[in-house]
Amino acid sequence: MANVKFFSGEQIPLEMHKVRIVQKLNLPPVEERLKCIAEAGNNTFLLKNKDVYMDMLTDSGVNAMSDRQQAAMLVADDSYAGSATFTKLENKVGEIFGTKYFLPAHQGRACENIIAMTFVKEGNVIPMNFHFTTPKAHITRLGARVEELLVDEGLKVTSDCLFKGNMDLNKLEKFIVENREKIPFIRMEAGTNLIGGQPFELSNARGVSAIAKKYGIMTVLDASLWQDNLYFIKQREAACKDMSLREITLELAKCFDIIYFSGRKLGFARGGGIATNSKELCEKMKELVPLFEGFLTYGGMSVREMEAMVVGLDETMDEDVISQGPQFIKYMTDEFLKAGVPVVTPAGGLGCHLDATRFIPQVPQTQYPAGSLACAAYIAGGIRGMERGTISEEREPDGSERMAAVELLRLAVPRRVYTLSQIKYVIDRIIWLYENRNLVGGLKFVEEPKVLRFFFGRLEPIGDWQQKLAEKFRADFGDSL
Ligand code: F0G
Repeated sequence: MANVKFFSGEQIPLEMHKVRIVQKLNLPPVEERLKCIAEAGNNTFLLKNKDVYMDMLTDSGVNAMSDRQQAAMLVADDSYAGSATFTKLENKVGEIFGTKYFLPAHQGRACENIIAMTFVKEGNVIPMNFHFTTPKAHITRLGARVEELLVDEGLKVTSDCLFKGNMDLNKLEKFIVENREKIPFIRMEAGTNLIGGQPFELSNARGVSAIAKKYGIMTVLDASLWQDNLYFIKQREAACKDMSLREITLELAKCFDIIYFSGRKLGFARGGGIATNSKELCEKMKELVPLFEGFLTYGGMSVREMEAMVVGLDETMDEDVISQGPQFIKYMTDEFLKAGVPVVTPAGGLGCHLDATRFIPQVPQTQYPAGSLACAAYIAGGIRGMERGTISEEREPDGSERMAAVELLRLAVPRRVYTLSQIKYVIDRIIWLYENRNLVGGLKFVEEPKVLRFFFGRLEPIGDWQQKLAEKFRADFGDSL
């Protein structure tokens, strides 16, 4: 977003786009919201969108497309093989990341499946700055495990550290020395999702790459959230201040043997893909694409989405475009801090993250504070956030609960979607909730799937705290929605 000062002195992010297509929203009254969350098994993934006012579940596949993207979708070439649309996408990914080869896949986790099936064997261990649910699930499914080697500061919910997503290079080298034979690759995640969309530095990626080269280990970048990470590097990493976004991206890409991304996040469309400069690596992964995804020139993606992604990747190289999300998130974070609401600092990308541990300290981790807070935010304002805490973990092999390192409620900010008044509404309702935090209680599972339980697990509140919260809302807000 452009640097525009308000005469009034107010500091608010100014949109460098205008809205040309709108979708009607619905805000059910609080009594309805109470029923809806119960019907959804107290899992915000299971809410029906018609019952949600602010859908802040994710930034995945819900970012607004530009007019140029929509126009590009009309000229897609849908031939099964040899589609011109594929060539465009392959060339655009090559231009952005400086890579020669591109394998299409239907979304990010499909890339993770291909990479894991090609390179991961039972007993392996994959060092990474921090895990994300889907790559971890693919790695553990194959009998391997992940090792998180994030800098210590990364797990501190409040911090001044501007690059909480950095890998701890000393820990990485030590770990490699002790486990060299078990490591098929090192994974770095841009815009580290589960710790609050926190970035790593270009210099850190270079450090990881140097260590990997020293020990002859392959490096893999998850670039799904690269656009936020890129913005933060440009803003915060002094050595990159005078580099263009394209230069930073090309320099970053040099640090990795394989780059994959969820096109539901990077490129403002839906899909995904794997890029590399190595013919050998490409050949190894290639045959899984037609087996699981689709032919090599679409990989399960709609050609229209591929056209949109080509344009979206170019738009990602525009600071006005990629600053919108982080600046809205910073605005939310700053307003919450003013009101004393515990949030992850510094503000990251992807969304604003409430710290459930400090928000509702009365709820023990065994009763899923981040999940409880997600239900409470829905009751308070029709706001659908996402639990990023213990419910998002999987149990240990012995069935005991693996407690998450942090209990966060993520309020994702889909890019170019919401207006500032809607963001202000969310801030208002969350501050109200914070004032009434003593009313919030815990949850327990009633249906608990073994894999990725956060998607379809069902829970119920412990006690009648949800009714009390809804009653308090009605008492405070009168007949307002
Ligand atoms: N890597 C990262 C860092 C992600 O955030 C995601 C998805 C994936 C990989 C998987 O990509 O969804 O296209 O299969 N994150 C979504 C989210 C689900 O809501 O944070 P996908």
